[in-house]
Amino acid sequence: MLEDIICCEEDLKNLSLEDLTRLLQLEDEKNIKSLYRRAYQKKAEKGGKKVYFRGIIEFSNHCQKNCYYCGIRRENPELTRFEMSREEILESARWVYNNGYGSLVLQSGEIQSEEYTDYIEELILDIKEISGGELGITLSLGEQDEKTYRRWFQAGAHRYLLRIETSSSELYNELHPDSHQFQRRLECLKILQEIGYQTGTGVMIGLPGQTPADLAADLKFFQSYSIDMIGMGPYVPHSGTPLASGDKIPAELGRRNLDLSLKMVSLLRILMPDVNIAATTAMQALHPRGREKALQAGANILMPVVTPRKYREYYQLYENKPCIDEKAEDCQGCLKQRVKSVDEEIAYGEWGDPPHYFRRLGSRTAELGGEIDAENAAG
Ligand code: 5AD
Ligand code: SF4
Repeated sequence: MLEDIICCEEDLKNLSLEDLTRLLQLEDEKNIKSLYRRAYQKKAEKGGKKVYFRGIIEFSNHCQKNCYYCGIRRENPELTRFEMSREEILESARWVYNNGYGSLVLQSGEIQSEEYTDYIEELILDIKEISGGELGITLSLGEQDEKTYRRWFQAGAHRYLLRIETSSSELYNELHPDSHQFQRRLECLKILQEIGYQTGTGVMIGLPGQTPADLAADLKFFQSYSIDMIGMGPYVPHSGTPLASGDKIPAELGRRNLDLSLKMVSLLRILMPDVNIAATTAMQALHPRGREKALQAGANILMPVVTPRKYREYYQLYENKPCIDEKAEDCQGCLKQRVKSVDEEIAYGEWGDPPHYFRRLGSRTAELGGEIDAENAAG
């Protein structure tokens, strides 16, 4: 069946919505393995057997939003709120730099305010300074206005992650209160691309009401929006949220969502060979070797959590999050082993920019017939 749909090299980027929907429903083990193998070959051909690290600092769980699936949503009264001090954040950044991770991600709940914009701008400048400009900086700070995105880019951030969660506006509306607008998220992605950020997005996989056709449409969305980096993970219920309403993760659902996630990674690698794809932590919430499986299915990025141990339990967007009791050093040793176990190699000290970004930038420059400001876009 797989060979019926993917016959020759030419077909790969042109897989239709129908093909993708059928492939996502593959049941036969042999076919599924062959899909993963094919995607892995693509990844290895394009980028070698390298895995790039982004140390993620989850520096605050305050959030103004109220997404129905998320453990740190504004209306979760059970949660102890925290924010790391500026010095703690810089200490974590130094650790990332000194341990050769090459780049870091700053993530928090979504806060929109003048003070917050100023604070993050200063932080970016300080992180650039402590690493002599060497550390790559990715932001994952939600929807902001254009001016804010520009200021942060000018301060030295060069990548931005903003998940669309699903490309179906109907499903998006079911997962969020009315004040959270799907259209606004799309606008933000466009603005980020216009400014010059390497732009990342992603979806959750296995959401209640989500069909294989919805997921196939997600893959087509990444392609049509020319996204550079994709982080997709299984939906993992959090019992303190309206969407989960007290559910624990039933084993059957966990297996199904992980399998679907791995198929999504493989199909995306086949559709978009030169993007960065994360082996996300949520995959490990559902299987002890979930992230390794994603690497073998075509992913090339790992995001080790470097948040200090004392804060980790308060940053659980979903239940069963791994590494809650670990320190950054523990995760480092553990991930080294995990990467080695799948015969891959950690690319220390490298930014690991997605070649797709430069191709996108090149075609845009050609379209405009001139230079665009990408001063700090590459490294
Ligand atoms: N399961 C899986 N992923 C989740 N996220 C939030 N809540 C959950 C959950 N219950 C993801 C969203 C968000 C990212 C930061 O975390 O995709 O964009
Ligand atoms: Fe806030 Fe992001 Fe969670 Fe939504 S998914 S509640 S924006 S942290």
